[in-house]
Amino acid sequence: MRTDTPQTIRRADYQPLAWTVTDVDLHFALDPAATLVRSRLTLKRNPRAPAGPLVLLGDELELVSLQIDGRTPAAARITDTRIEVDLDGDTATADIVTRIAPAKNTALSGLYTSRGGFFTQCEAEGFRRITWFPDRPDAMARYTVTLEADKASYPVLLSNGNLVGHGELADGRHFARWQDPFPKPSYLFALVAADLAVNERRITTMSGREVLLQIWTETAALERTGHAMESLVRAIRWDEERFGLELDLERFMIVAVSDFNMGAMENKGLNIFNSKLLLATPDTATDVDYESIEAVVAHEYFHNWTGNRVTCRDWFQLTLKEGLTVFRDQEFTADMLAAEGGDSARAVKRIDDVRVLRAAQFPEDAGPMAHPIRPDSYQEINNFYTATVYEKGAEVIRMLQTLLGRDGFRKGMDLYFARHDGQAVTCDDFVAAMADANGRDLTQFLRWYSRPGTPRLSASGRYDAAAQTYTLTLAQRSAGAADEALLIPVAVGLLGADGRDLPLTLAGATAPGTRLLELDAAEQTWTFTGVAERPVLSLLRGFSAPVIADLDEDDATLAFRMAHDGDPFNRWDAAQRFMERTVLGLAADAAAGRPLATPEAFVAAFGALLADDALDPAFHAQALALPGESYLLERMTPADPAALRTALMHLLRDLGKRFAADWLDRHLDCRVAGDYRYHPRDVGLRALGNLCLRYLCAAGELAGFAAAERQFAQAGNMSERLGALGALVHSAAPQRDSALAAFHAHYATDTLVLDKWFALQAGAWRWDPAAAPTLARVRQLLAHPAFAATNPNKVYALLGGYFRANPGEFHSPDGHAFWAEQIVALNAINPQVAARMARALERWRSFTPALQASMRRALETVAASEGLSPDVAEIVGKALA
Ligand code: ARG
Ligand code: ZN
Repeated sequence: MRTDTPQTIRRADYQPLAWTVTDVDLHFALDPAATLVRSRLTLKRNPRAPAGPLVLLGDELELVSLQIDGRTPAAARITDTRIEVDLDGDTATADIVTRIAPAKNTALSGLYTSRGGFFTQCEAEGFRRITWFPDRPDAMARYTVTLEADKASYPVLLSNGNLVGHGELADGRHFARWQDPFPKPSYLFALVAADLAVNERRITTMSGREVLLQIWTETAALERTGHAMESLVRAIRWDEERFGLELDLERFMIVAVSDFNMGAMENKGLNIFNSKLLLATPDTATDVDYESIEAVVAHEYFHNWTGNRVTCRDWFQLTLKEGLTVFRDQEFTADMLAAEGGDSARAVKRIDDVRVLRAAQFPEDAGPMAHPIRPDSYQEINNFYTATVYEKGAEVIRMLQTLLGRDGFRKGMDLYFARHDGQAVTCDDFVAAMADANGRDLTQFLRWYSRPGTPRLSASGRYDAAAQTYTLTLAQRSAGAADEALLIPVAVGLLGADGRDLPLTLAGATAPGTRLLELDAAEQTWTFTGVAERPVLSLLRGFSAPVIADLDEDDATLAFRMAHDGDPFNRWDAAQRFMERTVLGLAADAAAGRPLATPEAFVAAFGALLADDALDPAFHAQALALPGESYLLERMTPADPAALRTALMHLLRDLGKRFAADWLDRHLDCRVAGDYRYHPRDVGLRALGNLCLRYLCAAGELAGFAAAERQFAQAGNMSERLGALGALVHSAAPQRDSALAAFHAHYATDTLVLDKWFALQAGAWRWDPAAAPTLARVRQLLAHPAFAATNPNKVYALLGGYFRANPGEFHSPDGHAFWAEQIVALNAINPQVAARMARALERWRSFTPALQASMRRALETVAASEGLSPDVAEIVGKALA
C-alpha cells in the first residue's frame, strides 16, 4: 500500500506523453502467491509532445528485469512507483518482467484472487499494480495477452477481444491467447482465470453480423444469469435504435465476481461485475435488484461506445464517460419501463433518479469534498467516482438534451463519434460536437463543468388581473460565483383553479402545458399573456436542472399542487416539500423538547393523496413515501439526527394509526397473483403493498403485524419476503426476531442474500425504547461467521448500513468511536472501501456542537493513525481542513 504524503494532482498540469505505446504483448504465468508477468511494449516517440524520457508507473511491483531493445539500460531512474529511461531515436522496445502476489491483494485493485479464481480491476490506476506501464487513459495500445495456469484449478482463461490460440502445456498447465483488435487504455484491460460455467446466446446485430454473448459465473449460480442476459440483449437493441450504435466485437463477455469494490467494470469485451449486480432469481433478488441489474448491465454495455471507443484524455474528464453513460442508462431504463408501464412508469424512474441525486449528490456538493463535475484537482482519483461526477454529470448531459431536443442531441452524438472515434478526449470536445452539430453557442453552458455546489433557483410571480398577464421573475445564485450566470433550462407550467394546466402564451406563441425557459442571467423576467385567472406556478417540471428551487409556497398551495400538478414529477415533489416542512417542524419541536403534533393541514393533504384511486401504484408508492433521512438531515440546521429520528418515527406512527384502515385495505388491494414477473405494474403493486405494511407496523397495529407475518410466510418472491421482513424489523413487532431468524435459516448458505439480512439489521431503528442500541447488534454481526471484512459487499451491507443508512442510531459518541476503529482496520485491508466508509463523517461541521466534538475526535484518531492510505487520508484531511 502506498503511504506517502498525499500529493495533489492538477488538471492544469496535463502534459501529453513523450513516448506512446502502440502494442503490448503480455504473458501471465498465473500463481496465487507469485505470478510472473512478462510484458513487451512497442514504443513510439510522440511527435506532438515535448521531448522527454519514457515514463513507466508501478505500484507494489517487484521488478525482475528491464531491457530496452534487448539490453539493460545503463541509466534508468527507478523508484518504487516510477521508472524513467532516456531513449534515443523514434522507436524502441521494452521488455519487462514483474512479480506480483495476487492472493495478498486485498485492495482488489490490479490482479487479485476471489473464491479460488483470478480477476482484475484496473480502473482507475490498477494496471500499474500488474506491470510497469504508462498507466493513464491517453496511452492507447493494441493488446495481445497470453494466460498460462493450472488447468484443473483454472479451466477458463479469458481476456479482452478474440481468442486466437489455446492449448495444453506440461505439468497439467494450459494456456489461452487473446487479441483485442481495438487500441485501448490500460484501465480497460482485464483477465479472468477461474472455474466457471457459461450461459451463452447468439444474436444478429443491426448490420447483420452474428455475435456471441456470454455470461460466466460459478456453476452453482448459472441459473441466476437469465435476467442479466435478457437485459444485455435489450441494451444492445436499444443502443442500435436510439443512437445507431452497434456492438463492434465478435464476442461480448460478462463475468461475475464475489469480491469487487464497485458495481461493475466495462473492460473491453470482458465486463466484470460484482455478482450482486448480475445474479437474480425471483427467490433471491428484489424488484429493485432486477431494475439495478438491468441498468448496470446496460450501463457497462453502453460504455463500449461512450468510454471505450471514445475515452478520456485524463481522469479529470471522468464525467465525459460516466455522466454520459449514466444518462444513457437512465434513458434506457425509462424507455424499458415506459414500453410496459407508460408515461407514469417513466415519471417514476425520473423520481427515483432525483431521489438519488438529492440524497447523495446534494450533501456531497455542500461538504468538504464538493467539486465540479470536472474536478480541478484530486489526491486519489478513486475518491472521485462520486455522485457528482456520475449523477450530476448525467443531469448536465440531460440539460443538453433538453436544450437541443432529442434530435439535436442525437446529431451531436453522431458528430462526436465521427470526430473522435478511437481517441482520448475532453469534455470540451463533447460539448463542441453538440454545439457544432446544432449551430449553437454553448460557451455559457460549459460553466456547468467548472461550478461546484448546488445552484439555487428562486421565482416570484405577479398576476395582473386587469391586463390578464402573469409576470414571472427567475433568479439564480451559486455560492462564490455570483457574476457568472449559468444557462439553466427551467420548465414551467401554470395551474388554473380547477387544477388544470393553463395554456402558456409568451411573445405571441402558445404552448399547451409546459414551457421551457432558458435562464441565462442572474435574474430574468417573462410575461405570459392571456392568463384568464390567477395561476399557481409549477416550477422546474421534470426536474429540468440540478438545482435547489426555493419556493415559498404556503401549505394550501403545496396541498393544491400535491393534488393537481399536471407534471407527475412536480406532483410528487410538492408532496415531498410538504413532508419535508412537516418533518423538519416536528424535528425542531423534538429538539426543543416540545410535544409533537402533526399539523392537520398536512394530515388532510396526505389523506387525500392516499385515497386517490386514480394513481398508478408505483407512483402512489413514491408519492406516499417520506423523503430520505440523509436528505432531510442535510436540510436541517444544525443537523440533529436524534431529533430527526424522533420526528420521523412520530410521523410514520401517526400517519399509520390515523389511516390504519385505509393502509390495510390498500395493502390487500395490492396483492399480485400468479408467477413472479419483473413488470412495472407488478413492481408498483408490490412497492405500494410493502409501503402500507411499513406504516401499519410503524404504528404498532396488530393487524399490520399479522399482515406482514402472513406475507413473510407466504411470499412467492424476494420483494414480498424482504418487504414484509423490513416492515417487521422497522417496528416493535413481537415477531421481529423470529422472522429475522427464519430468514437467516432459509438463506444461510446464500452469501448474496445474507447481505440483505446484514443491511436490514444495521439499518434498524429503535422502535422499542427499551431495546439495546443498534451498535450492539452491529458489533455482534461483525463476528458472525458469514461476515468478512475482506468482502466489500459485506462491509457495505453491515457498516454502510449503519454509518450511512442509519444516521439516527450511528451519530453518537459510541458510534463515532466505533467508526474510527473500523476505518483504521479497513484501511489496512482495502483503502477504497475504507475511504467510502470514511465519507460518513465528512459533513461533521453541520451537526450539533455535541456531535461535532465526538466526530472531530474520531476524524483526528483516523488522521493520526499509522499507515494511512492516500484514499482515506484525502477524505479525513479534507474533512478536518
Ligand atoms: N467505470 C466503472 C463504471 O462506472 C466504475 C469503475 C470504478 N472504479 C474505481 N476504482 N473507482 O461503470
Ligand atoms: Zn460507468
